Amino acid sequence: MEDHFGEAVAVRYDERYESLASPDVVSPIVDFLAGVAGEGPALELGIGTGRIALPLAARGVAVRGIDLSEAMVERLRAKPGGAELEVTIGDFARTRVEGSFSLVYLVANTIMNLTTQDEQVACFQNAADHLGEGGCFVIEVLVPGLQRLPVGERYQPFDVSSTHLGFDEIDVVTQRLTSHHFWIDDGKVQVFSPPFRYAWPSELDLMARLAGMSLRERWSGWKREPFTGESGKHVSVWEKPRTSA
Ligand SMILES: C[S@@+](CC[C@H](N)C(=O)[O-])C[C@H]1O[C@@H](n2cnc3c(N)ncnc32)[C@H](O)[C@@H]1O
Repeated sequence: MEDHFGEAVAVRYDERYESLASPDVVSPIVDFLAGVAGEGPALELGIGTGRIALPLAARGVAVRGIDLSEAMVERLRAKPGGAELEVTIGDFARTRVEGSFSLVYLVANTIMNLTTQDEQVACFQNAADHLGEGGCFVIEVLVPGLQRLPVGERYQPFDVSSTHLGFDEIDVVTQRLTSHHFWIDDGKVQVFSPPFRYAWPSELDLMARLAGMSLRERWSGWKREPFTGESGKHVSVWEKPRTSA
């Protein structure tokens, strides 16, 4: 498993995605996750620099995490409360941590970092294996933007500014997507092109079903906005059934 979030990315990650760490963005996510977690504990797959895990832990939910990148986790550990969070370095599709969780969650399109269907299926199974009965797996991920892709076109701009150019390169046959980022800093350009695999909500529902879970809720945002044909992303909650009445 290749680590695309090494030192060169981690050193600038919080600065570049500062807007995603604002209270306006983070508070509804933490409210939603704390509500689903109940008594906890919660497990974040792809915990990164702790954007969500740290405020969720500050809310009183015991949080643990898995991440592939030592460099990202080093940033988390340096933040207030970060040293107390238990993080396992490994691939979240297969890495097992001790315990049974009421919530496993995966935000910010991170399921797409798994670039094959097999890996995504394994991730759903791994999430289910970590959940206790009645526990939930929550994912925040984009809806593939194919309605905006003309026939025969592969490239789609998602951000164009004086400091950042971002283009998705989409392969509609393999469902592979490469996000090409060109960050412009003091006249220097830094290129970051991580590979992804996109999946429709229905395909994710089937992965959940293969892992013994079923869809409980689907929204277009963390404030439980309705999910419609025009939604650009979804927040989905799959539940592991209780075996006894
Ligand atoms: C876009 S960042 C999101 C970080 C954090 N969840 C947040 O919302 O700020 C994705 C994180 O997932 C991690 N990651 C990607 N693929 C992974 C994998 N297969 N196993 C474990 N971690 C992975 C990366 O190292 C990175 O820290």
